[in-house]
Amino acid sequence: MQLTWLGHSCVLLSGSKKVLIDPYIEGGSVRETDPDIVAVTHGHADHMGEAVALNRKTVAITEIARYLKTKGLPVESMNIGGTIRVDGISFTMTAALHSSFIEGAGPGFSAGAAAGFVIGMDGVNVYHAGDTALFSDMKLIGELYHPDIALLPIGGRFTMGIAEAMMAATFIGAKTVIPIHYNTWEKITADPHQFKKAIERTTDIKVTILKPGESMQTGS
Ligand code: NI
Ligand code: MN
Repeated sequence: MQLTWLGHSCVLLSGSKKVLIDPYIEGGSVRETDPDIVAVTHGHADHMGEAVALNRKTVAITEIARYLKTKGLPVESMNIGGTIRVDGISFTMTAALHSSFIEGAGPGFSAGAAAGFVIGMDGVNVYHAGDTALFSDMKLIGELYHPDIALLPIGGRFTMGIAEAMMAATFIGAKTVIPIHYNTWEKITADPHQFKKAIERTTDIKVTILKPGESMQTGS
């Protein structure tokens, strides 16, 4: 499987299927990634992004799925704690400590809670934390779902910063951690090299810093 960080929180997993998580990049489009499945962690515009325009099978929490259905999208509705299989890919929705709303949805639409995903494809488990604060139940995500790779926000202000993400990484226990949700804007400035140095000095966890658009190979 190939994992590509397109920027911000947007990650493309390419294996037996193409799964695009949080289809938003700043000042550009991710529509040409042509995914089979889109997964949306929460309703904020920097995560919902181009979900409607992409118009693919979309995995989201019940409330967001309900909204996307009104836009004509084929949706796979789920909620925190559940696991589903979509075209042979497994999606577990995990808790996130964050808020959510759907910009432009108008009254009558709730965004539900913010979430994360553990996605299992071709024998590799990838945890995308979404936007979240540190919470100790990340230990359970590690114990139950054994992520090989964890995508963690490090930009601070709206999510974990470097110190919290370091503890999150030890809770989750993935061998590889990839920082996301930083340096998109001035307000979420963080130095991924500082994050990498600090974790690799004190643990066996490897931090892979990707540039926007850069890929890594994982598993077979
Ligand atoms: Ni958010
Ligand atoms: Mn965000």
